[in-house]
Amino acid sequence: VLAGCGGGSAPAKSATIKVGANFEMTGGQATFGQSSVNAVKLLFKQINAAGGVNGKKLELVVADNKSEPAEAANAMTKLLTQDKVVAVVGPVTSSDVLAASPIAMDKKVPVVSNSATNPKVTVENGKVKDFVFRACFLDPFQGTVAANFAAKSLKAKTAAVYVDMSSDYAKGLAQFFEEAFTKAGGKIVAKEAYQQKDTDFRAALTKIKAANPEVIFNPGYYQEVGMFVKQARELGITVPLMGGDGWDSPKLAEIAGAKALENTFFVNHYAADSKDPDTIKFVEAYKKEYGQTPDALAALAWDAALMVVEGIKKAGPDDSVKIKDAIAQTKNLKGVTGTINLNANHDPVKSAVIIALKDGKMVFKETVNP
Ligand code: PHE
Repeated sequence: VLAGCGGGSAPAKSATIKVGANFEMTGGQATFGQSSVNAVKLLFKQINAAGGVNGKKLELVVADNKSEPAEAANAMTKLLTQDKVVAVVGPVTSSDVLAASPIAMDKKVPVVSNSATNPKVTVENGKVKDFVFRACFLDPFQGTVAANFAAKSLKAKTAAVYVDMSSDYAKGLAQFFEEAFTKAGGKIVAKEAYQQKDTDFRAALTKIKAANPEVIFNPGYYQEVGMFVKQARELGITVPLMGGDGWDSPKLAEIAGAKALENTFFVNHYAADSKDPDTIKFVEAYKKEYGQTPDALAALAWDAALMVVEGIKKAGPDDSVKIKDAIAQTKNLKGVTGTINLNANHDPVKSAVIIALKDGKMVFKETVNP
């Protein structure tokens, strides 16, 4: 039993509540993890400055999963067995969460991914994973939003799909896009595959070009997508290029170049120029702290960490199973990416936005509600 648990002015014996952050701090998805950790740090700083949770300070323990599923599992083991955190925020990507969450299930510690959108993250073979939660929408919705944008707004009748086969997220999202695009009356005229860390996309792009699609959908991550966009334009492909949330990185424009990015679009979770008062407050505080506009990862990580903090407030800081039960009850939690109501699958239902790239900058185009 911990002294000082009831709050009050006496310092608690176990001084802090340890929360883990399992994130892509280095490797091919590093900007995702870095923004996520920035946001959670800022939230904890604000909460601690206001006195902490039930009189105890929050302590964030960051473990780098290096953007690799096997390392995400290692990071989870370290956080749970060495650091003994009571809950974990992250990882970002679906493949990393899928690799790390069995360890959390086994150790009975809740994991809240800010951003993993593949359906299997929370439910596999019809079974809900009790200790796994997320703060974002899912890919069947994201794929439908992308396909409808291609078919209706861009008026594309044909599409090519170019897929990172090393990512559970990309494989799933490509499939949901294809289904929705076909349903909207479109036709998939080419399908090509690549792997993470590939750098030369020209052979596949040449084949895609020959099929003459009116739009190309690449639901990959910014590192490979940046080169894909650049090389597509170099090969004279001028049609709109589209993707999903994995495009959201300041590195995208650095890698592709502003010019190549004209006439490209992607689906995302939030727009930093939102009029919501909570979002405005968050964007201002983040800019002040880091000198950067927060991306969707940061906004979602803030909301995922809020889910954990609310769970700890309700369940107390010591029992991870009770914290899990409290997180599962998340209802009407007002975050910076929307209001979170978890359904029985531990998934929120949220709207998406379409982002266009103009002069290398991300510009909000429209909101799509579920
Ligand atoms: N949705 C991606 C995945 O599941 C992760 C991601 C979310 C990346 C948001 C960028 C922005 O793998």
